[in-house]
Amino acid sequence: TILSTREMLLTAQKNNYAVPAFNIHNMETMQVVVDVARKLRSPLIIAATPSTVEYADRDYIVAMAQAAARQTDIPLAIHLDHHEEINDIERSIDAGFRSVMIDASKKPFEENIEIVKEIVAYAHKYDTTVEAELGKLVGQEDDLIVDENDSAYTDPEAAVEFVEKTGIDSLAVAIGTAHGLYKGTPKLDFDRLQQIRSEIDIPLVLHGASDVPDEFVKRTISLGICKVNVATDLKIPFSDAVKSYFLENPDANDPRKYMTPGKLAMEKIVEHKIKVCGSENRY
Ligand code: 13P
Ligand code: ZN
Ligand code: NA
Repeated sequence: TILSTREMLLTAQKNNYAVPAFNIHNMETMQVVVDVARKLRSPLIIAATPSTVEYADRDYIVAMAQAAARQTDIPLAIHLDHHEEINDIERSIDAGFRSVMIDASKKPFEENIEIVKEIVAYAHKYDTTVEAELGKLVGQEDDLIVDENDSAYTDPEAAVEFVEKTGIDSLAVAIGTAHGLYKGTPKLDFDRLQQIRSEIDIPLVLHGASDVPDEFVKRTISLGICKVNVATDLKIPFSDAVKSYFLENPDANDPRKYMTPGKLAMEKIVEHKIKVCGSENRY
């Protein structure tokens, strides 16, 4: 069955590892994350942004995830990543998603709280977990673009109030990671993370984990992160492998042939990220 992320994140939190949340776009990318997680006995969160839900169709995503869940007993969730539209979220819960991120981080504090509360009320009726974000990551995640001036780190005191008032199940923190790639080495505010962790007991989520040195990701996990979001680091090797295949085989036209190198390249990085998360052999 398709699960919420409640049990898997609380278990990860208790045992000091993180559940990887991999952004997928289609059947091939979903197969890769499921196959590797199954092989490594890792819990898995399959994440879909609004543009992925639009592209792949929510019913198809749910049906594919149900097929995957029938083939394996690892804990498996499908998660709405960075969703902003209340209506969209409710329709996807109706379709079978049991984990959602409502991203109202662009809104003023009080308004963010009101929007999140509304989603929590709906989601919890259907045993669906809710993640929300306080603070704002710089960078681009699909259609969501935040420039340097609009980015903001999570304020620990505000976070306490935010968690209390909204009733969310997990909190996405902004501590210096960015969506996409970095210009140099990212500077992460580990002290801030530690302070947030000391004051908040729900699972904490790291966005923008692509292009962050493994040691940094591991350190955030040791400081309380228990969900790690990865998108860009999977897209690049998949696309590069497909591009190389076409360069070597300019007449190729069989998707089963030209997609396969992409899947193989993506498998390697998914395996690596699971190891960085420490989620291998947990089930
Ligand atoms: P990256 O593309 O940097 O991995 O960010 C992923 C993310 O935060 C998805 O929500
Ligand atoms: Zn994100
Ligand atoms: Na990143």
